[in-house]
Amino acid sequence: MDFRAPQPIVEAIKARADHGVFGYTMDDPQLREVLVKRMADRYNWHIQPEDIVFIPGVVAALNTAIRACGEPGDNVLIQTPVYPPFLSAPAANRQINNEVPLVYTEQNGILHYEIDFDAFEAAINPSTRTFLLCHPHNPTGRIWSTDELKQIGELCLEHDIVVVSDEIHCDLVFEQHTPMATISPEIAQNTITLMAPSKTYNIPSMGFSFAIIQNPELRQRFQMAEMGVVPHVGVMGYTAALAAYQYGDDWLQAVIDYLRSSRDLVTEFFQEYLPQIKLTIPQGTYLTWLDTRQFAMDVPAQGFEQWIDPFFLRQARVALNKGALFGKPGEGFARLNFATSRSLLLQALDRMRDAVERYATQK
Ligand SMILES: Cc1ncc(COP(=O)(O)O)c(C=O)c1O
Repeated sequence: MDFRAPQPIVEAIKARADHGVFGYTMDDPQLREVLVKRMADRYNWHIQPEDIVFIPGVVAALNTAIRACGEPGDNVLIQTPVYPPFLSAPAANRQINNEVPLVYTEQNGILHYEIDFDAFEAAINPSTRTFLLCHPHNPTGRIWSTDELKQIGELCLEHDIVVVSDEIHCDLVFEQHTPMATISPEIAQNTITLMAPSKTYNIPSMGFSFAIIQNPELRQRFQMAEMGVVPHVGVMGYTAALAAYQYGDDWLQAVIDYLRSSRDLVTEFFQEYLPQIKLTIPQGTYLTWLDTRQFAMDVPAQGFEQWIDPFFLRQARVALNKGALFGKPGEGFARLNFATSRSLLLQALDRMRDAVERYATQK
């Protein structure tokens, strides 16, 4: 996001910096209490302070969870397209990607992504130990419904697969978010939930996130897998996180309102001026997923990927994330991040429209 972090976080960091001593630190019991209350208030989710494991980053936690749940050679289920570090995590831990594509429908230029439950179940094999869920989903912006979560959570229980639910975008939502672990007590015992204030309050460089693991045996496995590899959270991380969760929510509400209007603006813009490009309407995150395959039908399919990637960068001076990085079903797609000022966003959209129009007339 291009937005300055909430002032109470800035003040808390300055005050802690003035202390002048930056040694190793103890974890913060007050922060545990604040998180316990937050989960109860937001999701009616009643966790214990000891269920929380502080970690410096969600990607580190994804990798740790894979090692905690499986052995080299085991399989990790991943739904594509997805945030690229999901795709590299199994091999980094000597395990194997078991990729199941999400499916989508299109109506009036709007893409709607869903889970193909039959394909999901068919992808499970005797070596599948872990399922990495992205919820809200990056890049499509889907917030999975309670029915979808229940169905997939129960399939994982049935096949003895631990769910690792990356819920880093849970606060940046335009509709109600339901954590996977709140679906049932059995699913809670089978889930590692990953959350953070980093996206929410635009403080990722503070290196603070947390896992909620209600199953003590699973929690112990996770902590053993961290040992000696994942560093402890630093004092600035604790300081920023406590200030964020205590005093950041007015700022957060204003950001969500702003992002919602920007999302609507992006949707209307594409529908009116660039209907050749289909897109998702995200329920959460600040990302829109664009299907760019149809505005340049004359480019041969096998060369499209190499052609589209530099097109918007060179012709519009707009940097999108290349869809193929999100897995095979992302080829020909691109991810647009709209968490910037309205004027910059409008400028980017205008430039994309002009580039597409120029392309159409020059053909
Ligand atoms: C779904 C998802 N998980 C994790 C991360 C990164 O988390 P961290 O910086 O804590 O490793 C991101 C950042 O874009 C993300 O979108």
